[in-house]
Amino acid sequence: MSEYVSLTIDGAKIRAPRGTTVLDAALDYGICIPALCHLRDVTALSGCRLCIVELVKDGRSKVTTSCTLEAEEGMVVLAHSEKIVKARKNIAELLVAEAPNSKAIQDIAVRCGVKKVRYPFRHNNCVLCGKCVRVCKEIWQSESLGFVGRGHNRHVALPYNTRPEYCKHCNYCIDVCPMTIVPCPGSMKKGEEFLCGQCESQLSMAANAPDTCVMCELGAGFGCSRRHT
Ligand code: FES
Repeated sequence: MSEYVSLTIDGAKIRAPRGTTVLDAALDYGICIPALCHLRDVTALSGCRLCIVELVKDGRSKVTTSCTLEAEEGMVVLAHSEKIVKARKNIAELLVAEAPNSKAIQDIAVRCGVKKVRYPFRHNNCVLCGKCVRVCKEIWQSESLGFVGRGHNRHVALPYNTRPEYCKHCNYCIDVCPMTIVPCPGSMKKGEEFLCGQCESQLSMAANAPDTCVMCELGAGFGCSRRHT
């Protein structure tokens, strides 16, 4: 059996090592699929659903998360069809409502075309992406963090709310958390539920034109005054 599979993503023919997820195959090939809860080398959680794609087979298609979809020979995937772009934009909008001042989420949302948020803000300081839990368990074999509760009460916690002795103090949980990036200073108030859009300039940073706010840890020196349009 070949160690590689060939598939098509958005019309591009791609070869990927057998066992690779469609998301990783796409990213390796330079096809950008937004993903918040994804981390290479740890189990996929499928929590944010930003990475949805259309899997086309026998003239029909189904929507699924690409971080949990294993690339297979002959697969046809649409990562930016009209249907996916629309659904992803809505998911991004919901994430912003969940954590309006998360710069990481705003970055993604702007790239997904979100300008205004129609949902009530919940102002959570965690979007349950589970990156911290998974790196702690799977990379450091520590399990110092875990999910607790169900539904709206679900949250990440330390055992008995105390840092356990077996915590390795690696701080990797903080490094991977999308909420620990310096938050957006332009807090969104009622009636002002739109994004500044300046995070789009993450791309201009790459082009050496950092004239506006980019990713927040890079853009701290550039400020992020909200653009009222
Ligand atoms: S990256 Fe696939 S569901 Fe979050």
